[in-house]
Amino acid sequence: MLIKTKSNILNSEVTDRAVFESRREFIKAATILSAGVMLPISGHAETGKNIGPYSAKLHVTDREDVTSYTNYYEFSSNKKDSTILARALKTKPWSVEVAGEVEKSGVYNLEDILKDNPVQERIYRFRCVEAWSMVVPWLGFPLGEMLQRFKPTSKAKFVEFTTLYNPEIMIGQRSNGLDWPYVEGLRMDEAMHPLTIMATGMYGDELPNQNGAPLRLIVPWKYGFKSIKAIVKIRFMENMPGTAWHKSAPDEYGFYANVNPEVAHPRWSQSHERVLGSSIFTPKRNTEKFNGYGEEVAALYSDMDLKKYF
Ligand code: MTE
Repeated sequence: MLIKTKSNILNSEVTDRAVFESRREFIKAATILSAGVMLPISGHAETGKNIGPYSAKLHVTDREDVTSYTNYYEFSSNKKDSTILARALKTKPWSVEVAGEVEKSGVYNLEDILKDNPVQERIYRFRCVEAWSMVVPWLGFPLGEMLQRFKPTSKAKFVEFTTLYNPEIMIGQRSNGLDWPYVEGLRMDEAMHPLTIMATGMYGDELPNQNGAPLRLIVPWKYGFKSIKAIVKIRFMENMPGTAWHKSAPDEYGFYANVNPEVAHPRWSQSHERVLGSSIFTPKRNTEKFNGYGEEVAALYSDMDLKKYF
């Protein structure tokens, strides 16, 4: 994202749905479920159910494509290299510091967090600001339910998330591409929205290191850079946090970063997206406002000019 001369367009191939479906039973159901449908992992997936106007049939992206092409600048700005280098990260034990405008601040073991927050499956579209997209069956839990347990004070208007800082292993942190550690943030109502999840797994398994293990944010209506990986700190704040990409190039990466085909990135259009795994001959997909989740989230921004607050 930082390198101004690089094209954002990827060469990719058609999602190998047949191979994928044979791999996992539940994914078969996922391909015909609507965006944002939640499945208990142990439960039987309902198939063919249409929910709301955003129930376009989702073709889950091949796991191989999702796990071998990652954006993880702590390791490398090269999507293949970051996948390999991230293997060095030790994700057990893991704890998360909770701080700021909150009653129950402290350091929580991830295991304890997971005891309080049973994991469910969510199949979401994911749209990167670089104009590629994928559909991923995440395992995770609603962020809002976790945040409530920490009892934010009435002063908490924003939540800030921070990634681990460990330049010995995260070798990308030795250079100053971004102001490390990687920080992201949400407005409190965005964080509490039921579509927002903390992910701990994907494709019925643990989250691979390169995709943000052991704990990452997923906000499906926002560009992927909001979905911060390897979270070690959550801070409740009165004021808007300074976030990594926004600080590095505020005219290119807004704090809100809602997917919006009408607002071009200064260096490329956001009207279309290449679906990961699709061939260079496959037409690009039309990008949807709020990544197709407008019915659920547009009201959060009803009083805002989304061209100004991009
Ligand atoms: N989180 C951290 N800590 N570091 C990163 O470099 N990249 C972001 C986001 N979260 C990033 C991050 C970007 S730009 C995208 S598009 C998504 O992760 C990519 O997620 P994926 O690699 O699982 O596809």
